[in-house]
This record gives sequence, structure tokens and C-alpha cells, in this order.
Amino acid sequence: MATLTCSFILFFYLFLIIIFMVRSDPEPLQDYCVAQTQPPQTFFLNGAPCINPADASPSHFTTTALSKAGDTAANPLGFNVTLTNIRNLPGVNTLGLTMARVDIAGNGLVPPHTHPRASEVTIVIKGSSLLAGFVDTSNRLFTQQLREGDAFVFPKGLIHFLYNLDSKAPALIISGLTSQNPGAQLASAATFTTKPSIPDDILKKAFQINGQDVSRIRRNLGG
Ligand SMILES: *[C@@H]1O[C@H](CO)[C@@H](O)[C@H](O)[C@H]1NC(C)=O
Repeated sequence: MATLTCSFILFFYLFLIIIFMVRSDPEPLQDYCVAQTQPPQTFFLNGAPCINPADASPSHFTTTALSKAGDTAANPLGFNVTLTNIRNLPGVNTLGLTMARVDIAGNGLVPPHTHPRASEVTIVIKGSSLLAGFVDTSNRLFTQQLREGDAFVFPKGLIHFLYNLDSKAPALIISGLTSQNPGAQLASAATFTTKPSIPDDILKKAFQINGQDVSRIRRNLGG
């Protein structure tokens, strides 16, 4: 009996630790905190301050930001991401959520990137064949071919990508992210097109390439 109680308590504490570890943004202490986004910003905090709750209205909790397709032609990789944020959806402040609309041209690629502050769940709204993938910290690759209606999850902080295998038809996916400010770091840009540049010697050694390779990759990426 004592061992049973003991293992129950242990299990309970493990459960608490797990709940604590997977928590996303800090829990709000009020029903909502409609973001005050008007400048000037006179003090800085983790997130945005709230407007007076008495001034909150339904329009603070709705957005048309995701209703229009992003232009994929302007991007050499053929993708365009539209995000909700506290400016187009002020009611999302402190709720730990972001939605993303990702338009992907035929054979378009959302290149390998991470969101340091969010896991992401994605659903294919339009598209016959999308390759979704992420890499875990042991460099194991997980990929799945997705059709319309299929969903996929990218664990927080891990490098992931989406590729439209269909060369003609554009694709549309919608994602939910577990932070109001997920952040995005493209593996290519975070190494080859930083401002200022990472010294060539470092990139040469890290990627086992020569100086010409470094210049060529920088140029190709518009850096
Ligand atoms: C994404 O699409 C919008 C709307 O068409 C456009 O204004 C923006 O420049 C595009 N972004 C990129 C990176 O191509």
C-alpha cells in the first residue's frame, strides 16, 4: 500500500513537472488583455500592456489578416507567410497563440527554419501533395506527405520545412502556433545573410566549404 501511495505521489510530481515544462507563454491573470499598440512606448515588458477592459470590443478579437492570399511571386522560393499578431488582432495579447496563413506556389518551399518560442500545428487547406518535415536534436528526419485536410505538428524549436511537391497547383496551409510571438529563424539566413556577416573563416570551417562557396551562397540568398 505504502509503495502504491509512494508511486502515485511520484507520478503526480512527474505529471506536474511535465505540465510545467510544456507551458507556452505565461498564463494571463485576466480574461483578456487587448494590446495597447499605440506609440509612444514608454515602458517595456514581456508582451504588450492592456487597454482598459471596459474599452474592449469584438473587433479586438477578430481579424481579416488571413483572408487574402500572400503574393508568392515576389519570393524566389515561392512562399508567403501572413501572421496574426497584436497589431492586426490585439485581443490575442497574453493568450499564447498565433495563426499563420502560408501560401506556397507550385514547387514552392518554406525553407528549413525554427520557431524558438512555439510548437506549430499545421493543416493543409488546399494542395494535393505537400512534404512536411522536421529534424530532431539527434538529427533524425521525420517527413510526411500531406494531402488536403491532413494535419502535421512541428515540435517547438526544431528545424522544419514544407515543400509543395505539386509543380503546378499552389497550396494553402493554416498553422496555429503556441506563442503570440513565435519568432522564426531561417537556417540559411541565420548563417549566410546575417548583419553584420559571420566571418568567412567560421562559415568555411563550419560548412567545410571554401571562400568562393561562401560568397556564392551569400549572393544566391541575396545577402
Ligand atoms: C507577401 O504577400 C503580401 C501581400 O500580397 C506582399 O505585400 C508581401 O510583399 C509578400 N511578402 C513577400 C516576402 O514576398
